Amino acid sequence: MSISIPRGTQDILPGEVEKWQLIEAKARELCEKYQYQEIRTPIFEHTDLFSRGVGDSTDIVQKEMYTFEDRGKRSLTLRPEGTAAVVRSFVEKKMFGLANQPVKLYYMGPMFRYERPQAGRFRQFVQFGVEALGSNDPAIDAEVISLAMNLYKEMGLQKLKLIINSLGDKESRTAHREALVNHFKPRIGEFCHDCQNRLEKNPLRILDCKQDRDHELMKTAPSILDYLNDFSKAYFEKLQQYLTQLDIPFEVDSNLVRGLDYYNHTAFEIMSNAEGFGAITTLCGGGRYNGLAEEIGGPETPGIGFALSIERFIAALNAEGIDLEINQGIDVFVASLGEEAKDYTVGLLQQLRMAGFSAERDYLDRKIKAQFKAADRLKAKYVAILGDDELKNNKINVKNMATGEQVEIDLNTFIKQFQEFQA
Ligand code: HAM
Repeated sequence: MSISIPRGTQDILPGEVEKWQLIEAKARELCEKYQYQEIRTPIFEHTDLFSRGVGDSTDIVQKEMYTFEDRGKRSLTLRPEGTAAVVRSFVEKKMFGLANQPVKLYYMGPMFRYERPQAGRFRQFVQFGVEALGSNDPAIDAEVISLAMNLYKEMGLQKLKLIINSLGDKESRTAHREALVNHFKPRIGEFCHDCQNRLEKNPLRILDCKQDRDHELMKTAPSILDYLNDFSKAYFEKLQQYLTQLDIPFEVDSNLVRGLDYYNHTAFEIMSNAEGFGAITTLCGGGRYNGLAEEIGGPETPGIGFALSIERFIAALNAEGIDLEINQGIDVFVASLGEEAKDYTVGLLQQLRMAGFSAERDYLDRKIKAQFKAADRLKAKYVAILGDDELKNNKINVKNMATGEQVEIDLNTFIKQFQEFQA
């Protein structure tokens, strides 16, 4: 019996993987410009990191983690997200003591959530994310948002919607929380089991419930924006001022609460509003998480970041009909005719590749016509044809596949002349 791929995962094959590489390269290039440096943390962490960091009452921790016991009876979890691990490392490696503050980091790698797979939702997916730790300036919130927006735009996406909200500071959230409890408590019996649990633990989560989304109390729930204290209000206004200054259109949505517990002040999501994009339209999510470092045992540290998955990025590109320029073709295909010529091409390929060209040859003993077909499939710009007779005379024919022009070149100076061709 054959073994199939696990549910919610995918193989990314040649032809598709080039899109990933382009997005990854663009993300790295932007991070260089914005001065974020790469951090690589383990794929698994102690389970406690996520229950404390992401939050016990979140769906991620309650239902979606791949948790296992190792042979030493430790509870470990495949990371469902990157922020908690980055903050863990920031604290553990004492990055708060570095001279350069804020510490600006980025990561790219697989995350794991046991979710019900559907279009745009996988059990293993790749996140690109950034985290800026150590600054409480709303300008860095705007910077983080602009990095995400620019990455999408530079890859050609246009149908984007940025939604922002403020979850306020602790004082504002406490006041809002009380208002939420008072609002839902009298009729909490009409809500799902999860919401009933959320009421005392984390009533904000009720607003994010998929099951009770249409309950009338949801529409009349107290808005966090009415509970922001002066500091939080000024912070949020400053962020909006900066976004406007950066020409980044946004909408304020007071119902945006995000699915993780560590947020305060800024919360944002970038959605695709391309027609035909599936039900899940969120491409990117992020926000501020002052206090998370303390939760993990470090000093008080403000932080902000976002993460986006490459899977949804590509889905958005497809929905907007954007074809990334992939498979641009190889420089040269070396075709041979006769045994000696065939042997000779082994070295010739090596020389071409060392000189910086992408080069391929036949490995299936194909007839010359089939070799040309193979060259066509590879979109070769040139085909170099070497026969036993040419080899004897130290010559090689080079055909420009775009113009059909063919020239005979001295084999000894082939690489040099080929370079001139290309110039
Ligand atoms: P999140 O909203 O849970 O936030 O995930 C961020 C992004 O990851 C989503 O917008 C989506 O693009 C992608 N994503 C999440 N789950 C899946 C899935 N099952 N399949 C495909 N893509 C998925 C976080 O993870 C936070 N750590 C973001 C953050 C960073 N906040 C501050 N810093």
